[in-house]
Amino acid sequence: MTLAPGHETVDGTREAEALTDRPPPGGGCPYLRGATAAQTNGQEGQRLGALGPAPVVELPGGVLARAVVDPALAERLSVGPHVSRDAARHWPGYREGTRTVDGVIAQWIGTRNALNSYGDDHRQLRSPIAAALTRRRVEAMTPAIESIVQDVLDGLEGIGTDQNIDLVQSYALPIPHEVITRLLGVPAEHLADFSAAAAGLFDTSAGAEDMARSMGAVLGLLDQLVASARARPGDNLVGDLVRAADASENPLSDTELRDQLMLIIIAGTETTVHAIGTLLVHLLAHPDQLALVTSGQVPMEDALTESLRLRPPIASVPLRFAVRQFRDARTGEQFGEGEPILIHLAGANLDPGRYPEPERFDVQREGGSRSLAFGYGPHACPGAALATREIVIAVTRFLERHPGARLALAPGLLEQTASFISNGYTSIAVELG
Ligand code: HEM
Repeated sequence: MTLAPGHETVDGTREAEALTDRPPPGGGCPYLRGATAAQTNGQEGQRLGALGPAPVVELPGGVLARAVVDPALAERLSVGPHVSRDAARHWPGYREGTRTVDGVIAQWIGTRNALNSYGDDHRQLRSPIAAALTRRRVEAMTPAIESIVQDVLDGLEGIGTDQNIDLVQSYALPIPHEVITRLLGVPAEHLADFSAAAAGLFDTSAGAEDMARSMGAVLGLLDQLVASARARPGDNLVGDLVRAADASENPLSDTELRDQLMLIIIAGTETTVHAIGTLLVHLLAHPDQLALVTSGQVPMEDALTESLRLRPPIASVPLRFAVRQFRDARTGEQFGEGEPILIHLAGANLDPGRYPEPERFDVQREGGSRSLAFGYGPHACPGAALATREIVIAVTRFLERHPGARLALAPGLLEQTASFISNGYTSIAVELG
C-alpha cells in the first residue's frame, strides 16, 4: 500500500489497508487553491465533493489533509472526541518538533488558544470567552453598535448619489473594528493607535514588513491591556478573561491571555466584515429577495443565515487531527491516527442533498439555519450572537439610509479574497443612489 509522502502512516492494521481505496495522494490529489478568478471556495468544494465525502488535498507547505465536504460527516467529525484541533498534542512529527510547517498553516495552528485546543484544555480556554459573549453582553452592546453604525453612515453623507463607494473599506470594515475595540475595553487614549494597527492586520495589500509592524503594534497594545486588567480588571472582555484566568487551577500566562485576545480579534473582525459585505451583495443583486426583507415578510436574520450558507466568511478553518485511527460507519471513510482534517465549510454548505438548488439565494429556504457557517460542536463560534446583531443592524440601517443603492459591478466581477480560509469580497463598488 502506498501512502503519500508526509502522510501519517497508520500502525499496520486492517483499517490501514482500506486507505489504499483513496485516490493516490501526492501526485494525484488536488491542491487546495481557494478562491481564484476562476472559482469560488464553494465551487472548489463542490468539485472536491465529486471525489467523495473527504478526499485528500494538498495544502500549502505540502501538508496533505482530508477535505471534508459532506455536511453530515463534517458535523460528526466536529463533535466527536476522536478529532482534535490541538496540533501540539495530536499531530505526530509536529508534536515532536521533527516536522516543520510554514506559512499560513503554521500561523493558524501555532498559538495556544481556544481554537487550537482539545478536551479539558479547550473547555478551560473557551469558557471565559463564551462567558464574555453572552446574550446579556450582546444586549448591553446593542446601543453602542447602533451608534457606531450611525456614525459610519454619517461619514458617507455628502458623497454624490452618482459616485461609487467601496462598501468594504468605507462601511463593512470600520463597524466590526469599532465593535471589537469597545468589547475589549481599549481605553480612549489608545483607541486611535489600536484601531489603526488592528485595521493593518486585515490590509491584504500590505507587504510583509507592514504586516509585521501592525502585528507588533497590536500585540504591544494587547500586552498593555492585559497588564492594566491584571492590576484592575474592568467590566469588559479582557477583565472577564483575567478574572477567569486568576480563578483557574491552571492559570494562563500573560502571553496566553494575549493570544486569546488575538484570536478574538482575528476571529471576530474579518469574518464580520465579509458577512456584512456579502449579505449586501446578495440582497442588492436579488431585488425580489431584497423586497421580501424590506417589506418585513422575511426577517433580516433569515437573509443573513442564507447569505452565510451560500458564502460563509470562513471557507475552512485549519486544522484538525484524528486522535486515533477510526472509521466513520455511515460513509465508510477511514482516518489514520494523526491524519490532518480540514472541514470545508464552503463546500459542505453547498451540498445538494441538504440544500436543493444550493447555489440559489433564497431567503425563505427551509433548513438554511442548519448551515455550518458558524462551525459545529464544541468549537462552534461563541461570537455568533454578537456577529448576528452587528450584521443585522449594519445591513438594515444601510438599506434604510440608502434605499436606492446599486451594485456598480455584477457580483461575478467583484474581486474576492484569494484564500481557502477567508471568504469574501475585497472591494464592492456601490452607487449610493
Ligand atoms: C459572521 C461572523 C463570524 C463567523 C462566520 C464566524 C465563524 C466561526 C467559525 C467557522 C469558527 C470555527 C469553528 C470550528 O472550528 O469548528 C469560529 C470560531 C470562533 N469564533 Fe467566530 N465567527 C464570526 C464572528 C465572531 C465574532 C464576532 C467573535 C468574537 C467577538 C468570534 C469569536 C470566535 C472564537 C473565539 C472562536 C474559537 C472558538 C473555539 O474554538 O472554541 N467569531 N467562528
